[in-house]
Order: sequence, then structure tokens, then C-alpha cells
Amino acid sequence: MTATANHVQIAPSVLAADFGRLAQQVRDADAAGADLIHVDVMDGRFVPNISFGEVVVDAIRSATDLPLNLHLMVHEPDRLLPGLMKSAADQVLVHAEACAHLHRTVGYVKEQGSQVGVAINPATPIAAVEEVLPDLDIVLVMTVNPGFGGQSFIPSALAKLRRLHRIIQEKGYHAKLEVDGGVKADATARDSVAAGAEILVAGTAIFNREQSVAEAMAALRASVDGLAPGKT
Ligand code: DX5
Ligand code: ZN
Repeated sequence: MTATANHVQIAPSVLAADFGRLAQQVRDADAAGADLIHVDVMDGRFVPNISFGEVVVDAIRSATDLPLNLHLMVHEPDRLLPGLMKSAADQVLVHAEACAHLHRTVGYVKEQGSQVGVAINPATPIAAVEEVLPDLDIVLVMTVNPGFGGQSFIPSALAKLRRLHRIIQEKGYHAKLEVDGGVKADATARDSVAAGAEILVAGTAIFNREQSVAEAMAALRASVDGLAPGKT
């Protein structure tokens, strides 16, 4: 699917996929019109959970030609970046809270020719990314506390999204806003887009027992149909 200025991108998060058939689930998401595949790397330190590392990222990379939206929930990601970026170098997102020298880390990712994003937790203010905002391709506003799928969307993140959207517009920056956590085919998706989100991550809303991946993707797409990011 071609990205246009007003196109909302959907990034299924494979964290919720059936790992016994991971490649097939990725192919299902691709066939159902996913724009990106969201890949959650967790280290058991920055977040309480461990997910997977390079070997699994490689398997996801082999299963699709879609860009990978790599979300690193790891403390001090610098030491892991060279290895992970060999597997997935389309879009690399690090957490502001996890980087002692965020400016350097952002610069490193850009130097490798990848798109770079910075993620902020629900309790982290916009100020944590403001100084690097001109350099960013993506700001990921976490709408849950990271570490687990299937949590509830935190509504106070919407005000933060709106403020960031305004700053980006006023300054003429190019960063896209992304939301991650508790996004479903309901007000959580619609309100996020209205607040400025252009990329919606969805884990359990896409990979679940109630619907096929195609049905779930269609429902999420329909829930934001006709909406333009940042326009109410
Ligand atoms: C949570 C991860 C998310 C997760 C979202 O820490 O970063 O990407 O997969 O899952 P849902 O959409 O189920 O909240
Ligand atoms: Zn994520």
C-alpha cells in the first residue's frame, strides 16, 4: 500500500502472534495489508519481560518484504544495535529513558541509513525528546507501560500526542507520530489518529483467537477509515 500524506499506517505487533507459526502469521499480516511489521525486542531489564533477539528478528525479516518497525525496549541499546540492525534496519526505535546519550544513539542509527525513532513511556514528558526532535523520523508515544501485550490504552497519552503534533507542525519537523499499546478497532484508534498518530501498532487486536488476521486488519482499517491524522 502506498503511503500518502493522510494515510494511517497499521503496524501489527508480532509479540501477540503464535510463535509456533511465526513466519505464517507475518505473511498473513502482510497479505492483509499491513504497512509495517512491529517487532518488540525486550531485555528483561528496561522492561520486566524478555521477548526475543536477533535470531527471531532474522526469521521475521525472512518472512516479509515489508519494512520492520523495530521497537527496542532494552537498556542502553547501543551495544545491541549493530547486530540487530544487520537483521532489521528499516526503522529503529529506542527509548529515551533507556539511553544515557540519546543524541549519539539517534545519530548512530541515522548514520547507518535507517529511519530513527524515539519512544517515550506514559510518564515521560515531551521534553525528553524535544532536543532531538528535528532529527527524528518517528516519535513513538507509548499508550501503555511497555513490557506486555494486551494492556489497556492509557487515555492521558492523547493529550501528549496532541501537544507533540502541534510542536511538529509549528516547527515544520518531519517526524511521524506512532502509538503502541491497547490500540483496537474502536475509540482508541480513532482518538489516536485524531490526536495526530500516523502509525498504529496493534498486537492482540490483530493476532487473537476471535478473528483471522485478515478480519482483524479489516476491522482496524475500517475504524480509522476517512480520518486524517491530526484532524478532528
Ligand atoms: C508492549 C509492546 C507492544 C505490544 C502491544 O510493550 O511494545 O508493541 O505488542 O500489544 P497490544 O496491542 O496488545 O497492547
Ligand atoms: Zn512495541
